[in-house]
Amino acid sequence: MLRDSVKFSEVAKKKIVAGNWKMNKTIEEGTALAKAVAAGKFSSRVTVVLCPPFINLQSVQKVIARKKSIRLGAQNLYPEPHGAYTGEVSAEMLGAAGVSYVILGHSERRQYFHESDEFISRKIKAALSKGITPIFCCGEPSEIRHAGKHIAYVENQLHNALFNLTEAEISGVVIAYEPIWAIGTGLTASPQQAQEMHASIRKLLKKRFGATTAKNIPILYGGSCNAGNAAELFTLPDVDGGLIGGASLNAEDFIKIANSF
Ligand code: 13P
Repeated sequence: MLRDSVKFSEVAKKKIVAGNWKMNKTIEEGTALAKAVAAGKFSSRVTVVLCPPFINLQSVQKVIARKKSIRLGAQNLYPEPHGAYTGEVSAEMLGAAGVSYVILGHSERRQYFHESDEFISRKIKAALSKGITPIFCCGEPSEIRHAGKHIAYVENQLHNALFNLTEAEISGVVIAYEPIWAIGTGLTASPQQAQEMHASIRKLLKKRFGATTAKNIPILYGGSCNAGNAAELFTLPDVDGGLIGGASLNAEDFIKIANSF
């Protein structure tokens, strides 16, 4: 039933598949992985984004520099432009390094580094001010889903981090729905669960920013997305691609996922 409605709601906007390498790959290993991905063939409808650790940005950028379909992404930034923030990296620095996307609000950063929606909101604004596209992550833990409060939980995350943006600003944002219980667990959201949440996010965006803007904001799915289940998820009406963790560390799988539309 879900598949039947796909054609109807399909929009001309680009699909996005981003690989979040998390804290994996040395410079040498990362260069090899980027080369293997860059050797893949991708449809012009897809933008592929590689998000390696900071230390690999420059080497990966060199590999993908001439590949139009592949963009460079970072996994984090600090919202201040510069100064005494030991260990941190600013949006300006990322932009100068050729970064076009940045993952913000990932549940691992919320959990291990205690990032609040308000702090993430500052990061989003910093990224946008330097022309970097934030990939804003949202998603509920398992106990919230079991309590049937997942829709309200994600609504709250969106409200706190995104709804203070202008229409022009939100148009430069990508959203990634990543249910925490699905991250790295092998428990992928079912097509029904993913579509329900993506449609709910789209509806909220429509209410706040209007129908045209809402339609054009890419909403990616993340959480145990792999070469075997990507096609089923990516053909859902409100799923515009994926944010891939574990499977992005294998070039063959990642290329297959990026070609699953
Ligand atoms: P996995 O694909 O390993 O479940 O990770 C998803 C994720 O957290 C991407 O940001």
